[in-house]
Amino acid sequence: MVQDEYRDMCETYLMRNFGRHMLITHGKGARVWDDEGNEYIDCVAGIAVCSTGHCHPKVSEAICRQAKELIHISNLFYIPGQAELAKRIVEKSGIKGGRVFFSNSGSEAVEAAVKLARVRTGKKRFIAFKSGFHGRTFGALSLTHKEDYRLPFTPLPYDCSFVEYGDIEGLKAVMDDTVAGVILEPVQGEAGVFPAPDGFLEAVRSVCTENDALMIIDEVQTGFGRTGTWFGFQHADIEPDIITMAKGIGSGFPMGAIVAREGLEFLPGEHGGTFNGGPLACAASHATLDVLEEIIGDIERKGQRFRDGLAAHHPRQRGLMIGVTLGDRCAPVKDYCEEHGVLVNCTSGNLRLIPPLVITDEEIDQAVRVINEALDS
Ligand SMILES: Cc1ncc(COP(=O)(O)O)c(C=O)c1O
Repeated sequence: MVQDEYRDMCETYLMRNFGRHMLITHGKGARVWDDEGNEYIDCVAGIAVCSTGHCHPKVSEAICRQAKELIHISNLFYIPGQAELAKRIVEKSGIKGGRVFFSNSGSEAVEAAVKLARVRTGKKRFIAFKSGFHGRTFGALSLTHKEDYRLPFTPLPYDCSFVEYGDIEGLKAVMDDTVAGVILEPVQGEAGVFPAPDGFLEAVRSVCTENDALMIIDEVQTGFGRTGTWFGFQHADIEPDIITMAKGIGSGFPMGAIVAREGLEFLPGEHGGTFNGGPLACAASHATLDVLEEIIGDIERKGQRFRDGLAAHHPRQRGLMIGVTLGDRCAPVKDYCEEHGVLVNCTSGNLRLIPPLVITDEEIDQAVRVINEALDS
């Protein structure tokens, strides 16, 4: 799957923090090809990133066009396309009077959200949820539950209490007037696709409002149509104070953002970043939104096609996020799928399917057939 020579070079010159064994050379739609020409249906999509599929012509064209006009200029100047993109994102979030701060990744979006919550509330504590994932930078890691990720880096900068996802009494028990914000995913993604229980987001909203704490919804994985709505929280009847987003925003061009409600913003000089919201990222994101606007109405139906096809294995599904609990069987199932032309992802003992949102019915059926074979074998 990967030439020995290339593997040796990776081993010699790259840090060995990522585990990997394949070299993917190109992709189109929901399909990718490795260096030996083998074709795969991609149910990973760069970890929920390649929302419009690989190299969607509208996205590739927009990036190429912008690359010939202006690649970088910095936020010392107005940036072409940036304000229009902020307007589109705010409108899709439904947050009236909301404002955007752009970042370059999901962790940086979370970092911006916690800094904003700290500086505007003047409070220092946070509450997050067990099995939740919010990123790897020190601030985001403070809010990420997994001990394997946290322990090598303690002490972490933010004091954070962790509550069982779905446990509203547990949340009330650790809430007090020192809490700046509560952060949660509307569907826990890295945990293996666990949607919030019915009524949970509404209950968290009430507890936050009663205690003057900000509700921060982490949409890094769930945003931009992944769950069938523009943002995952829109399955509930709430308005968060801050929304973090990244992954699907630019079809693979690195970008992140936060939207904060009216009255909640950084003051001049309080936060920044050289590359944030650059011309290329904005062009990629505009083209991504153009494509998603055409297909968003069909995403839940496609997710249900996966769910129905895998029904014998009790999948959890919201839009095109599908999870099946497998424990130790996850690795052999992934290997079988790969050998039979389907890329899938294992996370925390769960099979996670997060394909490009443009995946076709035929591709879903083909992937489902192989995954069922793997699960039944
Ligand atoms: C919910 C959530 N928040 C934050 C992050 C971190 O994003 P990034 O890897 O772009 O820094 C991720 C990444 O998987 C995520 O799923």
